[in-house]
Amino acid sequence: MVRQKIVKLLGSVNPAENVLIKGWVRTRRDSKGFSFLEINDGSCLKNIQVIADDSLANYEDIKKISTGSALAITGDLVASRGKGQSWEIQATEVMIINIAPDDFPLQKKRHTDEFLRTIAHLRPRTNKYGAVFRIRSELAFAVHTFFRERDFRYIHTPIITGSDCEGAGELFRLTTLQPDQVPVKSGQADYSGDFFGTEANLTVSGQLSAEMLALSLGDVYTFGPTFRAENSNTSRHVAEFWMVEPEMAFCDLAGNMQLGEDLSKFLVAWIIDNCSEDLDLFARFVDKTLMPTLDTIVSSEFVRLPYTDAVEILTKSGEKFDYDVSFGKDLQSEHERYLAEQHFKKPVILYDYPKEIKPFYMRLNSDDRTVAAMDVLVPRIGEIIGGSQREERLDVLESRLEATGMSKEPYWWYLDARRFGSVEHSGFGMGFERVLMLVTGITNIRDVIPFPRTPGSIEF
Ligand code: 4AD
Ligand code: MG
Repeated sequence: MVRQKIVKLLGSVNPAENVLIKGWVRTRRDSKGFSFLEINDGSCLKNIQVIADDSLANYEDIKKISTGSALAITGDLVASRGKGQSWEIQATEVMIINIAPDDFPLQKKRHTDEFLRTIAHLRPRTNKYGAVFRIRSELAFAVHTFFRERDFRYIHTPIITGSDCEGAGELFRLTTLQPDQVPVKSGQADYSGDFFGTEANLTVSGQLSAEMLALSLGDVYTFGPTFRAENSNTSRHVAEFWMVEPEMAFCDLAGNMQLGEDLSKFLVAWIIDNCSEDLDLFARFVDKTLMPTLDTIVSSEFVRLPYTDAVEILTKSGEKFDYDVSFGKDLQSEHERYLAEQHFKKPVILYDYPKEIKPFYMRLNSDDRTVAAMDVLVPRIGEIIGGSQREERLDVLESRLEATGMSKEPYWWYLDARRFGSVEHSGFGMGFERVLMLVTGITNIRDVIPFPRTPGSIEF
């Protein structure tokens, strides 16, 4: 007999005889001559109720089944007499696969997110985390759908790289040498004897490689894991996260901003349309303002605001910020959130940032002070997207590399792309976990990725 998913059975139009389900016990209670089991198999938020009566051969064992145990149940799908569910299963056989002892930590009471992080291996079995990870799956599918509908090609960029795209030095070094084996040459670690014969690290962004593919395939995107050794313990940063990075040939900053807006709206609308049951849990128990916030994102036009104007709004706001604002300083999340949450009350795309605070690859504007950068800021989170038009002029790019103190040599191929058919092109990176925070109302990034990696924490 083929196992059926609970989501299918609950959506059934007709009763059915002899169905098989497998799942985990959420609760069990006894009444005279019956045992009622709430079974969840992860296919949806809802449990299915199973009625086991005392005519079953192993009824004495059934009465000992505990929360968290795994069962295989055969029976008939019948209209439910109970409230709040259309179908239930009248069991003809309850096979016990595995009994969970009484110390199973997810007994029927509410647990804090902090506690659940300490049992990240079990938290997907709660309603809330099951819902998060189903939405996460759906969101990834939505990303691919969005780009496929627009004829973008899905490419794979390397995880192991020799370059530092963001130039911020937040790299995880990758080596096969034992720490005490790394030779030192004129005061510097010498990796010439290492696996790649040079320094290697985990990628901080697939952008530089994606540009090469955009300059051949046209519109491309990469979507993969990204690593940053940022030693900041915030609720919006993890050391390993997933980034969606489109890159477009023959596209300027305005086109780039439009794509960022379209993608953000598409993803939010997709989750509203396809995850209503799971989303409802977050709207009721996590963030009461979730649905209005999401509706605003889908229906409003995103503000476009030069960085310089943002600085002026912030300095004139009369608001007390922890960090000062002035031209040439990077904005903090408190500033980003003030703009999106309080001032405009909708998403804002900031653009034309001072060149000093942005990476070498961003296109220098004619004012010689700013670069064609853009960040998409949303209420409650701040930055979800960071991108730019890329510097396509070889001489300007070379002098920007020099100005930022980076050596040209490892980037020879990147520079080469500016020698052969160089064209205007643009792209951005969208933090996948940040979007998940946005659509669920969850305020800590550690709770939207199954096994978060943060400073001092790599359990599970
Ligand atoms: O703004 P970032 O650093 O941009 C880039 O890396 C570009 N090279 C992307 C490109 O143009 N192709 O990062 C992009 C996004 C941020 O807006 C943020 O949403 C997310 O990635 N992000 C993080 N998410 C979680 N944890 C971290 N430590 C993150 N760092 C960046
Ligand atoms: Mg950024």
